[in-house]
Amino acid sequence: MPTTFQLNGVAATAHAEADTPLLWVIRDELGLTGTKFGCGIGQCGACTVHLDGEAVRSCQTPVGTVAGRSVATIESLSKDNSHPLQQAWIAHDVPQCGYCQSGQLMSAAALLATHPHPTDADIDTAMVGNICRCGTYDRIRASIKTAAAHLPKKS
Ligand code: FES
Ligand code: FES
Repeated sequence: MPTTFQLNGVAATAHAEADTPLLWVIRDELGLTGTKFGCGIGQCGACTVHLDGEAVRSCQTPVGTVAGRSVATIESLSKDNSHPLQQAWIAHDVPQCGYCQSGQLMSAAALLATHPHPTDADIDTAMVGNICRCGTYDRIRASIKTAAAHLPKKS
């Protein structure tokens, strides 16, 4: 049976079997390739997306479990790299090979949604599951703080 859900604010339908990882559906069936496959076993964070606003590993999320829910991928941050996190990532020249960075950004975005002024401990907790083999951790931390300082003020 098809699975319907919201993907980046738009209704989406997946025809894959319900136990197919969401990552496969996003990339191969729905054509959004910003979310990356790293380990496939929930250990690296490259595949991180938001499910109802929470950072989850899409390689470990059967598509059937997102029925009626809201999924956001890296493509949702902005169309023109204008999201404060994307701007901070550029300003701090964060990526090296870049492979982990989609997942890093999505974990950071979920963090800032709930902790607009995160402490170092908040950042450590939110980002611990996102591995960077290039060791860009210091620049990621600095970028999250820069982005937090530039978040639009909520009225
Ligand atoms: S690909 Fe999903 S955690 Fe590594
Ligand atoms: S930038 Fe290469 S793995 Fe993170």
